[in-house]
Amino acid sequence: MQETASTNADMLVLAAEGTPEGLWLRAEAQTGGRGRLDRAWESPPGNLYCSTIVRMRPGEPAPATLALVAAVAVWQAVELVLPGRARIKWPNDIMIGPAKLCGILLERAGDAIIVGIGLNIRAHPDLAERPTTSLWAQGAVEANASNMLEKLSSLFNKLLETWRTYGLDPIRALWLSAAHEPGTPLRINLPDGTAFDSQFYTLDNDGALIVDLPDGTKRAIHAGDVFLL
Ligand code: BTN
Repeated sequence: MQETASTNADMLVLAAEGTPEGLWLRAEAQTGGRGRLDRAWESPPGNLYCSTIVRMRPGEPAPATLALVAAVAVWQAVELVLPGRARIKWPNDIMIGPAKLCGILLERAGDAIIVGIGLNIRAHPDLAERPTTSLWAQGAVEANASNMLEKLSSLFNKLLETWRTYGLDPIRALWLSAAHEPGTPLRINLPDGTAFDSQFYTLDNDGALIVDLPDGTKRAIHAGDVFLL
């Protein structure tokens, strides 16, 4: 579609109408793009704005872990056009150095999980407190929204099948291989407004971030905003 408020919002409407799993929606631009933690997602033309729907089945891994499936799929798609450059930052940001290239937002309605992906291809917002980048700024000028969605949707579908068949373990292993090195300094902003510095340690078996604290103890983070220091 040309322009919409938010592909996630559109997909939530379709989910309520009974749309089956597997559909992908893409917009050229969004006027009300939604980001994590109630932020807006700037959505000018030239980037990829898309959403898909997964219908949860009994006995599957926790729905929130689909964020890791999506992050690995985007990372693999980016590897095809910019090999060896991107890293995943918990839970599901794709980074090039300190700059954010892609964000992922999961929303839930009953058994439907909407996975929304915003990948900066030609443009990236100028944000004071958060560096951002795009595929074009990094030299991948052959990338466009349509060829990136083609790669991404096919990688996502394969990883979804893996997640369903074998559980979170193989996805966790792929996520860790694409994440920052253990020991990477991180600042954690918790939903209650407190913040602390730590080092990346690992991802636990249910997708929580495990960090090393300066006093040598470990802490699991289930929600929050993570900054590379
Ligand atoms: C983040 O804050 O990092 C997540 C951003 C997610 C943006 C995408 S763009 C397509 C989909 N539709 C939306 O309104 N948001 C997601």
